[in-house]
Amino acid sequence: MTHRFDVLTIFCLEHEIKTVLELGSGGFGSTNRFIRADCQVVSVDWKTPSQRNSNEVIMEEQPKNADLIIADDKFLPIGSHVKFDLVFIDTSHEKEHTKYEIDLAKQYASKWVIFDDYNFHAVKTAINEKGINVSPLIIKTTIHEIGVWEIK
Ligand SMILES: C[S@@+](CC[C@H](N)C(=O)[O-])C[C@H]1O[C@@H](n2cnc3c(N)ncnc32)[C@H](O)[C@@H]1O
Repeated sequence: MTHRFDVLTIFCLEHEIKTVLELGSGGFGSTNRFIRADCQVVSVDWKTPSQRNSNEVIMEEQPKNADLIIADDKFLPIGSHVKFDLVFIDTSHEKEHTKYEIDLAKQYASKWVIFDDYNFHAVKTAINEKGINVSPLIIKTTIHEIGVWEIK
């Protein structure tokens, strides 16, 4: 069955993305789509997979070849010099937290940042208040609820 995140696999293949920092592993839906594009993924979530296994997220198989970090992304144990081709933001969708994550993404992303649910009011407000240029992801003329920011 087609997953709403299959577009992430296509995006990564089309843009030759090799490394991803994912904020919000949840049920590994997005993690598995990055892995299908042969990306190396570092995925962060403050809950362990069993703590997440509620009606909060639909759990998929835990990927064996992703580095999973259990941590609040306010305290990321990743050196500030490390860069990723893509930072994917999919955690609280709260305004102030998203603004903080935009700063994190500026630090860790060499080129691309993707926001899930970028059209949520709080996420959109955070993007507007930060004054960054996020466009909808369009694959084969279909507009997705995923926003892409190319860092210049
Ligand atoms: C919408 S789910 C992620 C869905 C996931 N990308 C997927 O495809 O299954 C949001 C996740 O963000 C995590 N989260 C929320 N706030 C966080 C924070 N400050 N640091 C790390 N993880 C956080 C939650 O525990 C939850 O698992």
